[in-house]
Amino acid sequence: MVEIYHEEDGDLSFLTGKTIGIIGYGNQGRAQALNLRDSGLDVIIGNLEDDYKRIAADDGFAVYSIKDSTEKSDIILILIPDEIMDEVFQKDIFPNIKVGSTIVFASGYNIGFGLLTPPEDNDILLLAPRMVGIGVREKFLKDEGFFSFVSIKQNISGSAKETLLALAKGIGSLKKGAIMMTFRQEAELDLFNEQAFGPAFGKVLLSSIYTLIEAGYPPEAVLVEMYMSGEMAYTYKKMADVGLIKQVDFHSKTSQYGAMSRGIRFRKLSLKPKMLKILKEIQGGDFTKEWERKLTGLKFKAIKYFATRQKINKIEKLVRKNLKLKLHDIYDAKPPTKEEKTKLRIISDELKLFEQYFE
Ligand code: NAI
Repeated sequence: MVEIYHEEDGDLSFLTGKTIGIIGYGNQGRAQALNLRDSGLDVIIGNLEDDYKRIAADDGFAVYSIKDSTEKSDIILILIPDEIMDEVFQKDIFPNIKVGSTIVFASGYNIGFGLLTPPEDNDILLLAPRMVGIGVREKFLKDEGFFSFVSIKQNISGSAKETLLALAKGIGSLKKGAIMMTFRQEAELDLFNEQAFGPAFGKVLLSSIYTLIEAGYPPEAVLVEMYMSGEMAYTYKKMADVGLIKQVDFHSKTSQYGAMSRGIRFRKLSLKPKMLKILKEIQGGDFTKEWERKLTGLKFKAIKYFATRQKINKIEKLVRKNLKLKLHDIYDAKPPTKEEKTKLRIISDELKLFEQYFE
């Protein structure tokens, strides 16, 4: 039976007298720091010399270097990008951790896939909001809460669970709920959502858009109908609020009948085998190995460039202009340089696939 924790399971007084060091003041760092402080806890920030540091100081926090804040903290929340976490951890955090401090991650990726080896003598916890940083703050201020996935990797103190649930309450998550799992499960679920659901959904969306535009409907109207109105996001929210099927009641009877009577025609659209393959690659660590490969950074840059050249981007750019919406720099990604192209020659076959796909 999965363990799920709520407001009554967390005791903030467990953190009284303890200094919480937030390493990184970005999406999650700022939101979690503000929420913990508003919950009455003692919070300091550890950051590089950059704009984030200035924002933290403007918000009224005591800001130190990553090394100094690690030394001063009893609980350390690592809220910096996953890609550089191991390097920062080994250089500035690991050597400066106090005996008995607790280390908390917001993503299971590095620990779950063995990319970062944590110290053996500290409690190691996961508190991963299922919510973007700005939402973490907004939901806290609205007293609504948000779900998070939590885990205990090492319980050296014997009181890791109390610390974890108090922190989950402090950031405002227990008002909705914290679900216990392993670091690896958290990472795998996240990757699956990004790699299987996301692209499959994207394909459905694009197929709908091209069907309508090719049938002669104005692109402005098609894009507004399909996603720019924000109605779809609203429907998604209603699925969370009242249930996947129940939310159907918010739509007209015509809409309900049309969707259900035609829905049956897509029943043989089989996505599961492809999704299962993606899941297996994630579970087996193949994806992580691929992402860690030296050349993958360049491959990523090339794929992103191809993606900006696809038809929908050109259509969207024009539509946004005609609708007087803000234009973003996504439409101008830089192509790989000559030198990068030479390096990419080794995987030119792989890249051709992407180039053709995005044409
Ligand atoms: P972010 O990209 O907003 O992090 C920015 C912060 O990282 C800044 O304080 C910056 O100074 C620091 N930073 C950047 N490069 C650095 C370096 N080389 N050395 C030291 N510090 C550096 O990070 P974000 O998105 O808040 O993610 C933090 C953690 O939260 C990650 O583990 C992520 O997986 C997790 N997470 C993020 C969510 C989100 O809403 N973005 C949602 C749930 C979890």
